[in-house]
Amino acid sequence: MKRLVVLISGSGSNLQAILDYLAQGTCPAQVTAVISNKSDAYGLERARNAGIPTFSLSHKDFSSREAFDAELMTLIDSQHPDLVILAGFMRILTPEFTRHYSGRLFNIHPSLLPKYKGLNTHQRAIEAGDKLHGATVHFVTEELDGGPLIVQGQLDINPEDNPDSLAQRVHILEHQIYPMAIDWYCCDRLTLSPDGTVLLDNASLPSTGH
Ligand code: GAR
Repeated sequence: MKRLVVLISGSGSNLQAILDYLAQGTCPAQVTAVISNKSDAYGLERARNAGIPTFSLSHKDFSSREAFDAELMTLIDSQHPDLVILAGFMRILTPEFTRHYSGRLFNIHPSLLPKYKGLNTHQRAIEAGDKLHGATVHFVTEELDGGPLIVQGQLDINPEDNPDSLAQRVHILEHQIYPMAIDWYCCDRLTLSPDGTVLLDNASLPSTGH
């Protein structure tokens, strides 16, 4: 059974999708802890409702990003995770952190990376006149939203879409692709090779040109 630790900052709808997926019992994994940098994150309540231990660690209690990440690493490592999952964890991570979890750290981002790293992705896609948008699951590296791609979900931007409507539709995609990527990893089908190539069933996935 693979041990998963999920990091959140907010609503935790992706966490919920992961928990619902694991509850089906087909994926050999369990979420052993949910950690938030915000004590009022609704995702913590979702975790408690599922009987999962929760931890809240505020970045505001630390004098530096390095000090916060060091404490966060200690907390995560006390869970002995096989995989660490960023699910709306809105903190930039230090190189020490991303290196420590290299090959076992996932993120989900609300755009078709490498487009629109950072914030306000839905608005930026609409303003650019894009016809396509979506979400990406990727391995986390030192480069913000720049690690090797695992899977993307894609949708059409409709003329009547606004940032809120797009966010809602992208969320639905996220709830499909994140459990899928986690399932691949937990079934030992997905690995990150030392040269940064993502292997699914020993075959290379196409590079995103990050
Ligand atoms: C998701 O849309 C996720 O892609 C995004 O935060 C949202 C969290 O929603 N993450 C980022 O923007 C990270 N750069 P949730 O709390 O309902 O899962």
